Amino acid sequence: MSENLPNSTPRHVAIIMDGNGRWAKERLLPRQAGHNAGAKAVERTLQAAQKAGVEFLTLYAFSTENWIRPQEEIDGLMKLLEQTLDKYTKEAEKNNFRLWVSGEREPLPARVLEKIDYAVNATAENTGLTLNLALNYGARQEITHAVNALIAEGKTSVTPEDLQKHLYHSALPDPELIIRTSGEERLSNFLLWQAAYSEFYFTPVLWPDFTEAEFNKALDAYRARTRRFGGL
Ligand code: FPP
Repeated sequence: MSENLPNSTPRHVAIIMDGNGRWAKERLLPRQAGHNAGAKAVERTLQAAQKAGVEFLTLYAFSTENWIRPQEEIDGLMKLLEQTLDKYTKEAEKNNFRLWVSGEREPLPARVLEKIDYAVNATAENTGLTLNLALNYGARQEITHAVNALIAEGKTSVTPEDLQKHLYHSALPDPELIIRTSGEERLSNFLLWQAAYSEFYFTPVLWPDFTEAEFNKALDAYRARTRRFGGL
């Protein structure tokens, strides 16, 4: 559990980037144009988070449920991911950020997995912000994965701490703040375990329109809240 004090900057911000499709539709553009514009918003947000002193930024890039989208859209998203991973690997050296990925490897394409492995290894020793891409991620799958690992260890009874140790990244602190864009107000199988005490911030802004100012607005809203963790 985070011990962040009110008025402080959250250590970990997690974002459900939603609304790319609607952004494109409003402009009579193909959905891929929305995803491309969404990738630019990712860059802006990454910079804003670094500037604000956020230590961990988790972005929901592709869920385990997204495979039911048309193949053409999936292929476009995977291509965009490959390009983005290439770019980040280069920029990570300059900006000192570290890349982590949370999610199941299967059935991600081999090319994407290679780029992930390369980027994760190349940035492992960096000491700046950790960008955690939730990719082929589902929170129920993450919890199930942890339970299966504990069963494989022969455990017959477990504690929350045991389970925490087998999440995709046991060292990832719980997000103090979870943002969702586009006016939707759901968690959609995102960080169910880690969100136990998270503050939520919903904005009608569509993800491709998300800016540094919007990010800072969310941080200010978080700072204005009082976190009680079940106490008074
Ligand atoms: C939700 O919009 C967004 C996604 C399913 C994918 C998120 C992907 C990006 C922001 C693009 C690039 C990201 C990286 C890390 C390279 P939606 O398509 O569900 O929008 P809609 O609800 O308006 O249809």
